[in-house]
Amino acid sequence: MTEDSRAYHAVSRLTTGWPRVQRWVWAGVYRYLGRHFRSPEWTFMNWGYAALGSVDGGDGHTRELDPVDEADRYETQLYDRVASQADLSENTVVEVGCGRGGGAAWVARALGPDRVIGLDFSPSNIDFCRERHAEPNLEYRVGDAEALELADASVDVVLNVESSHCYASMPQFLSEVTRVVRPGGELLWADFRPPETLGEAPDWLTANGWEQLALDDITDHVVRALDLMVPRRRRLIREQAPRLLWGALEQFAAFPGSRHYEELRTRERTYLCGRFRRA
Ligand SMILES: C[S@@+](CC[C@H](N)C(=O)[O-])C[C@H]1O[C@@H](n2cnc3c(N)ncnc32)[C@H](O)[C@@H]1O
Repeated sequence: MTEDSRAYHAVSRLTTGWPRVQRWVWAGVYRYLGRHFRSPEWTFMNWGYAALGSVDGGDGHTRELDPVDEADRYETQLYDRVASQADLSENTVVEVGCGRGGGAAWVARALGPDRVIGLDFSPSNIDFCRERHAEPNLEYRVGDAEALELADASVDVVLNVESSHCYASMPQFLSEVTRVVRPGGELLWADFRPPETLGEAPDWLTANGWEQLALDDITDHVVRALDLMVPRRRRLIREQAPRLLWGALEQFAAFPGSRHYEELRTRERTYLCGRFRRA
């Protein structure tokens, strides 16, 4: 392990069990990344989704993509896996934790919603999103998952991809989602969890008047995508980051051999994809 990846794990170990501190650390990390890494090539921050084994001749493809989306194939496929659980046509979709905006832009372009609002608590991410993406039905706003600045029952679908592990309180996020989603509207959610907290989100939702329409373990698909994404991600990191940060960024991006990757591979963490409908 390099010095910087040791520092990365020391911080994440020290903050475990301190959700408010963890949230504060994540806010700093994402503010830093948004401010200092401005390459238009980097528009997603998730671990991807790929088809397994021989389903597809081994390239992990799950769908046809427009040539413009091909570079981010596996990250886009994760959005497809989560967002295509519901028919979004003519819907108002709010993505909470939109990061660098690539997913919200793809959903706005490919899945036919009336309107997509991408929210992220990092102002530097939102600046980047506004510079990088332009679709007629898409806007980006600074916003906090745990205090959504949206009117009651104003949203058809909340989309939430690989963001909720950063929140100080999952119940607080879910009660905000319950407030802003209209009756009959949906939450489409994906994220990783250690086994002891796997049930937190589904249990809270079903206890609070939501119907669970799907909850799938997609860990193997994510691990396969992490394998397939290495060459491009390695090139981007080497081209854009100082050498001092290479190790930490490879840990953050869950490169094969990193702790995040091993935790998924050995199922110390499980990657879930869920669909829930509000009563
Ligand atoms: C791993 S990134 C995923 C980004 C994006 N969903 C994607 O898949 O490319 C997690 C994102 O969640 C955002 N985030 C974390 N905590 C948040 C909060 N409390 N409110 C809004 N966004 C938050 C971070 O700023 C970051 O952009």
